[in-house]
This record gives sequence, structure tokens and C-alpha cells, in this order.
Amino acid sequence: MYNPLDLTGKRVLVTGASSGIGRATAVVLSRLGARLILNGRRADALQETLAATENSTIHLCSAFDLANLDEIPKWVAELVGGGGAPLDGAVHCAGALNHIPLRTVSSANIDSMMVPNLHAALMLLRAVSARNVAAATGVSVVLISSAAALVASPGMAAYSASKMALYAVARAAAKELAAKRVRVNCIAPAYVKTPMLDHAAGSIMDFERIEEQQFLGIIDPEEVGVMAAYLLSEAAQSITGSQFVMDGGFTL
Ligand SMILES: NC(=O)c1ccc[n+]([C@@H]2O[C@H](COP(=O)([O-])OP(=O)(O)OC[C@H]3O[C@@H](n4cnc5c(N)ncnc54)[C@H](OP(=O)(O)O)[C@@H]3O)[C@@H](O)[C@H]2O)c1
Repeated sequence: MYNPLDLTGKRVLVTGASSGIGRATAVVLSRLGARLILNGRRADALQETLAATENSTIHLCSAFDLANLDEIPKWVAELVGGGGAPLDGAVHCAGALNHIPLRTVSSANIDSMMVPNLHAALMLLRAVSARNVAAATGVSVVLISSAAALVASPGMAAYSASKMALYAVARAAAKELAAKRVRVNCIAPAYVKTPMLDHAAGSIMDFERIEEQQFLGIIDPEEVGVMAAYLLSEAAQSITGSQFVMDGGFTL
């Protein structure tokens, strides 16, 4: 049967696969035939994701803290080394959201978001585009940005900056890496039903207002996974340096 999203045999690294959008993305990609490397810091939570995937025996879990920025290229090279197949794709879902009013801003709380959201993305781009890591047919990298890059909220300056910067990274990387057949795109969701959102509830979010503004409703994380699958697939082979807003109307 014709399926333009078919990912059979494609090897894809999913960061943030232990929760939320990353977990849902992993499940979607597994249903489309991808062979996955699931990353997060919590090995037990990665096992839960693995159990939810289709063909769970063909996937690999790799617990690793992406805050070890300089270790990322070596970690990725080792994952595909030793006879492992090269990478066809990566989806960077790992990230953090902390509410930081500017009166409390510090280098530590800026880093708590910049490191997983932005710096790790840059290091992953270096890692996955390296010779002996990238598949000869090319690599598609999907970075999970946020509608918070487009809509301002108090206490969100550092988070929004990290997400707006991801789009700039995608555009520059798309140009720099095109010759290596590496495509780089962003997905910018508004509110998605995940533990991150549950954690923020009551502190920074006014859910009644959000539900009024996001008039198609809170987004199912699986929908983000399907968009990632499209960007990984051959159906999107001419798409690079783009950002896809998925917002239920929130930014309109
Ligand atoms: N939920 C939303 O409404 C929403 C909207 C727009 C954008 N986003 C973005 O979507 C992405 C996923 O968010 P989510 O809602 O799915 O959040 P989540 O459920 O809290 O998941 C965050 C993931 O990031 C991983 N992670 C965090 N720091 C890490 C590190 N240093 N090393 C490795 N993994 C790390 C966590 O794994 P461990 O805990 O196992 O380390 C977890 O799997 C984030 O970038 C977020 O900013 C979310």
C-alpha cells in the first residue's frame, strides 16, 4: 500500500524519548517502520517507552545526559559505530521549561533551559552530520521549538529565546549542511498535553485563557510525532530550514 510517510529501515535518534512529545514521537515512528535509538536521562522511563513501541526488539535505549555537551559527538559516534547502521534522522525533543521572572534570572537558571533546548541541538547537529554517522542518502533533523518563540509571556524570556534561537539554528544549519544532504527543520507547537505542561499548571499557565486562545484545543503529542515523521520521510525531501507552527490557532 502507498504510504508516503513510510520509514521502514530508517535509523532515527529521538531525544527526550522518556516522556511527552518524545515518547509519542517514538511510538509513531516505530509504527512507520523506523529503527530507533531512544534517549533521555531516565533509563527506567526509556524502558517504558520501548515497551510502547512497535517491533520493540529492533530499537535501542541509550540513557545519556545531553548536558554533557562536549561528549555528544562521541556518544552518537559510538551508537552507530561497531557495526551499527548510520543515522537517517534525529528528532530533538529533549528540553526544559522553567518560569524565570527577570528579577530572578541567573546564569544557572538560564543554562537550565539553554543547555538542553539549544546548546544540545547544536552539538547534535555536529554529531549527526559527521562522516561515518550520517547515512550516505542523507539525514533529516527535526528540532522541537515552541510557539513561545512567537508569543511573548511574562517569565518566559529565557525559554522563548532558546526556542526562537532553534529556528535560527535550523535555517543556518540547513544552508551549511545541504551539501552533505542534511535537512534541518523545526516544529513549533503551542500547548501539548505532556508532563511538562502538567508541571507548569498552576504556576505559570492560565489554562482557561489558553483554552480560549488555542481554540482547536490542547494538542495531542502524537500529532507532533506525525509531523516529525513527515519531515523525516522522503515526502519532505525538498523541505529544509523551515519551521512548522502547530498551534490550534494560538498565535493567530
Ligand atoms: N508540552 C508543550 O506544551 C510544549 C509546547 C511546545 C514545545 N515543547 C517542547 O517540546 C519538547 C518536549 O517537551 P515535553 O512537553 O514532551 O516535555 P517532557 O514531557 O517534560 O519531556 C522532556 C524530555 O526531555 C528530556 N530531557 C530533559 N533534559 C535532558 C537532558 N539534559 N538530557 C537528556 N534528556 C533530557 C527528558 O528526559 P529525562 O527526564 O529522562 O532526562 C524528557 O524525556 C521540549 O523541547 C519542549 O520545550 C513542549
